[in-house]
Amino acid sequence: MSVLFSTTPAIRQLKQTMPGSKGMPVLGHGLDFITDPMNMGLKLSAELGPVFWVDALGITFVSMMGPEANQFVFRNHGDLFSNNEGWDYYIGKFFRRGIMLLDFEEHRHHRGIMQAAFKKQVLVQYLARMNPAIERGISQWKTGNGFEILTEIKKLTLDMATDIFMGEELGPESEKMNKAFVDCVRAGTSLVRFPVPGGRWKKGLDGRRVLEAFFRARIDGKRANPGEDLFSRLCQAEDELGRKFSDEDVINHMIFLMMAAHDTTTITLCSIFYQLAKNQDWQDRVREESFRVGKRDIDHDDLSKLEDAALVMKEALRLLPPVHGIPRKTVKDVEFKGQHIPAGTMVSVSPLVTHHMKEWWVNPEQFDPERFTEARSEHKKHPYQYVPFGGGAHMCIGLHFAEMQVKAILHHVVQRYRWSVPAGYDMPVDFTSLPVPGDKLPVRLERL
Ligand code: HEM
Repeated sequence: MSVLFSTTPAIRQLKQTMPGSKGMPVLGHGLDFITDPMNMGLKLSAELGPVFWVDALGITFVSMMGPEANQFVFRNHGDLFSNNEGWDYYIGKFFRRGIMLLDFEEHRHHRGIMQAAFKKQVLVQYLARMNPAIERGISQWKTGNGFEILTEIKKLTLDMATDIFMGEELGPESEKMNKAFVDCVRAGTSLVRFPVPGGRWKKGLDGRRVLEAFFRARIDGKRANPGEDLFSRLCQAEDELGRKFSDEDVINHMIFLMMAAHDTTTITLCSIFYQLAKNQDWQDRVREESFRVGKRDIDHDDLSKLEDAALVMKEALRLLPPVHGIPRKTVKDVEFKGQHIPAGTMVSVSPLVTHHMKEWWVNPEQFDPERFTEARSEHKKHPYQYVPFGGGAHMCIGLHFAEMQVKAILHHVVQRYRWSVPAGYDMPVDFTSLPVPGDKLPVRLERL
């Protein structure tokens, strides 16, 4: 059955020389990937070393594990690895020409223009819009048992994204848009990779069409009457040479950005809510800190006062990095750690596995935000051991935006509510696409 995966002579050759694992017949390690990628990665790297091949999700790819591999791949000296060809296999059909799927010179050009929408003075304006949007959203929350964090946070971040990114409230269209995003993201790890009616792949393609029509219908209006939202910023943005985005560019970037922003932040918040439900002492610490700031609506200068919240966010991102595996494809022959990886090979690095390696972290499974304090600085043993936002040319452009949004939401919520889970509860994680609570994280929510 391994014939299914060994499609080229180069890959067959690679399998002769490099350690690897073919997993189960037909599926390879596909099921491990969507059920427990962390333990699979830790186990295989302990057995096979930092570079090994695996068969999964219909392809053979090379896993490159640990901080040194992250550094080598993210820095990408000599333009060895393509982002587009790596991500294209998973999400190219649904997020084509999003900035993460561009390479080298074209990527630098687009990133130079996009940067204008993420400058500090622009973030200050986004934050001003976030405060009322958060209050509006969380004041509707219903207290009691069975409050589903995933459902409510997803709704909140999508509502915020449409307001901050597009300058409008969606109202009844919100559910349709949310579904279109979810379908696009979930399609990426579909085991059946062609459009069967009712299948994940087809839903992803349909979702893409809904999103394109949505943005296309609004673009002339945005160009004519720009506001302070991200959509307007992308329409106006230019680099130092005065180059701007075309309409198609703006649509492609908006679809990718809405996805990148809304899903990753939702996952981060779910992980934080989970950890703070289990670690009530930390929930109290974060709450006390927020009350000390002395106001609900924070501005940009207040963010640095939320130090405990920052530690908690870092630790939540370590334990469950939303982009848990990051693909690339080699466009040249590569040598790493004595292994030869031919041009045209899919490779992946894993923030999730790196963040749980015993060699780099003390009790990696334990929730211990203080490992990130200046005094302990456990994350500074290697510059690429903590990589929730990636690194190098494609490092997350929204990381300050994300920190701002997560802190702002947490700051508002802790001053209004307390939440808990039953003793012994462990959150199941569904890795089918980006990792989300498999049970939507039901908590008991109480008003303070
Ligand atoms: C905690 C939340 C977030 C996490 C963990 C996260 C993680 C990441 C990672 C790992 C990458 C690199 C992917 C690669 O190298 O292939 C990335 C890229 C990117 N992220 Fe984020 N992200 C988050 C929030 C956001 C937000 C809020 C935005 C936008 C407002 C955003 C926009 C982007 C964009 C545009 C890229 C592609 C950059 C490029 O290719 O040049 N992200 N993100």
